Amino acid sequence: MTDAERPTDMWSTDSPASVPGPTTRWAGLQRGSQAARAYRQRFLDLEAAGRDLHGEARFVSALAPPPSRVLDAGCGFGRVASELTRMGHTAVGVDADPDLVALAAEDPDTRFAVADLATLDLRNEQEFHAVVMAGNVVPYLADGTLHPVLARLTAHLAPGGYLVAGFGLAGSLPEGGAAVSTAQYDRAAHVAGLSYLTRYSTWDRAPFTATSGYAVSVHRLVNG
Ligand SMILES: C[S@@+](CC[C@H](N)C(=O)[O-])C[C@H]1O[C@@H](n2cnc3c(N)ncnc32)[C@H](O)[C@@H]1O
Repeated sequence: MTDAERPTDMWSTDSPASVPGPTTRWAGLQRGSQAARAYRQRFLDLEAAGRDLHGEARFVSALAPPPSRVLDAGCGFGRVASELTRMGHTAVGVDADPDLVALAAEDPDTRFAVADLATLDLRNEQEFHAVVMAGNVVPYLADGTLHPVLARLTAHLAPGGYLVAGFGLAGSLPEGGAAVSTAQYDRAAHVAGLSYLTRYSTWDRAPFTATSGYAVSVHRLVNG
């Protein structure tokens, strides 16, 4: 199918399904529908115990108020994207784990797709007001792919759009994750064409310090 033939509401990625993307660190840690269900259940249990699961969505909404177009990059089972939809955004979620995306797709009001962030091309969805990588997507990328991932995410931002990422740092890494320092992350964002805006240590905007174990980084496409 050529682009001209593609229905306007259809979107795709450049990676044909027959060509597997790079093995992410997440795929090395867990695979399959049972693991995906167990992962979601952990969050549902936390929510049932009163834990707030929506700090990321509120953070993004404060930057790009609804109705904005928001890409949840590495969406997992759709925790953040579905909340963004509930808040009045047009949210799209993409993830390389097909079993998590299958769970996410139980939300009929949000669009989800299986895609590798390193080659992402949402042809009819290119201009997002914000892209968010929540919950340690960065440490779970395939090794050596931070630069292509940030380049592809930047390509999906509207001028003035925000890239937001929250992830654990060395010493506070999730199981199986690789350390990415804030300096490495900022360098890759700069190479991708983004400007540094600010950084916190939590989604509630606690100050970031030299001893913080978690970074919520905000960059912006200033000269898109
Ligand atoms: C810890 S989970 C977080 C899921 C979700 N963002 C959340 O906070 O609930 C990390 C996710 O990053 C995804 N991921 C890692 N590398 C990826 C890539 N190259 N392309 C797409 N998704 C990727 C994994 O498949 C996994 O679902």
